[in-house]
Amino acid sequence: MRINLSRVIHLLLMLSIISSLNAQSKLDSNEILYRPAMHFTPAKGWMNDPNGMFYKDGVYHLYFQHYPDSTVWGPMHWGHATSTDLISWKQEPIAIYPDSIGMIFSGSAVVDENNTSGFGSNGKAPIVAIFTQHNMEGEKSGKIDFQNQSIAYSNDNGYTWKMYAGNPVIHNPGIKDFRDPKVMWHEATKKWIMTLAVKNKVSFYSSSNLKEWKHESDFGINNGSHDGVWECPDLFSLKLDNRNFWVLTVSINPGGPNKGSATQYFIGEFDGHSFISGSSKTKWMDFGADNYAGVTFSNTGDQKISIGWMSNWMYAQQVPTNKWRSAMTSPRELYLFDVNGERYLGSKLFTKPEIKNIVLFNDGANKLEDITLANPFKFSLLQEGLKSFSISLSNDIGEHLDFGYDSVTNQYFIDRTNAGVHNFNSEFSEKHIAPRLFNGRNMVLGALIDKTSIELFGDIDCTIMTDIFFPTKPFTKINLQTKTDNSKMNYRITNYLMP
Ligand code: FRU
Repeated sequence: MRINLSRVIHLLLMLSIISSLNAQSKLDSNEILYRPAMHFTPAKGWMNDPNGMFYKDGVYHLYFQHYPDSTVWGPMHWGHATSTDLISWKQEPIAIYPDSIGMIFSGSAVVDENNTSGFGSNGKAPIVAIFTQHNMEGEKSGKIDFQNQSIAYSNDNGYTWKMYAGNPVIHNPGIKDFRDPKVMWHEATKKWIMTLAVKNKVSFYSSSNLKEWKHESDFGINNGSHDGVWECPDLFSLKLDNRNFWVLTVSINPGGPNKGSATQYFIGEFDGHSFISGSSKTKWMDFGADNYAGVTFSNTGDQKISIGWMSNWMYAQQVPTNKWRSAMTSPRELYLFDVNGERYLGSKLFTKPEIKNIVLFNDGANKLEDITLANPFKFSLLQEGLKSFSISLSNDIGEHLDFGYDSVTNQYFIDRTNAGVHNFNSEFSEKHIAPRLFNGRNMVLGALIDKTSIELFGDIDCTIMTDIFFPTKPFTKINLQTKTDNSKMNYRITNYLMP
């Protein structure tokens, strides 16, 4: 038999077109199914911690740990995104690239209003970024001093950056884990204060010009959880009943309350030199598995707004998104509350997006099962008393995500064991629990759901849980299960129509 070469070539060409179309449509369906609407995700590539967040002239700037060439962690850059409302984001060109000193690890940025650094030009305040440079060659060659602190500055409000010629500004003293500087202005001592994660503690440094730093003190060897390495700290003040308190947050990996990465915090006093914790209890900002490395924006005055990385180092590099990996949490305004003399840090959903479509109030006629869900949406429930209940989001192939409250244990929960794809990591398919911290006799529970994430705000923002999940078809139904009469529960669903 004679082979017609041109027909074979034609056939092969057709096959390759069909397979690339298939791959394309798979990619697009993955995009439609998993790319959130109200949470920042990079257009492509890998993302972890939020970095250098600041607010200026009506624009919120978010930088992030970014490896643009792959969907797994690699040489870190600072990616950049901007927003005016913290709901819709515009991804900007990459802000800071690795150089001969090292990759660009996590850090912070400040608006240097008084030009203390001298980087300002034309009377305009420079933005100064302070970050860790991680030297991979150093690490590979067995050195231990491969993490040093460097700075860069911007004269156009954070869009383009220049590296400081005198980097690094803090040299490694011979400690492997020496990173993630978070800097803020301390008004009482008129100094910049840097909080740095140093292995199993934080170190405080002070500076008058952001270039020369003096070690002030250490905190934490005997405080909080030590089941993992300390990373990405933050220090800021908040008022409670007109009294000023200092809050120190520290991310820890592993060792979180529901395994893996999580963020603990301490509430106490800080005098510009050292921090003293007011409690010996270990406290967690978020009991879910997916809120890590969260820090606050600079330059937002008394208001402290935090964003975290909505993933967990246990499985972040394996989650089933094709083009990009990871989203940020919703922005949250932090506040303090008190239960029986013990002080806690609460997180309120900061975004107040325009409500386009209110679907339901429970007035006895509406039943939760009758609703068709649109994504993203917010669910709120108000119950008189404290009875157990479980809300289930589901699709028509039997996958479901359950969340609710158990009155026997007095715990909130999110159960993602049957919520879709989980075979990428054996630790993923789990039920997570969180104590009810508030002790009021009625309950208000809010949840923001955005395709692949749920953020639970128990008791008007006292107990927080953030979890991600990956259904193979969208969840289109919602169902409420209680053992008692559910007419005493008022629920409401708000659909957001995204711009
Ligand atoms: C936290 C972290 C930081 C580090 C960065 C590297 O997730 O490990 O400590 O700076 O990620 O990407």
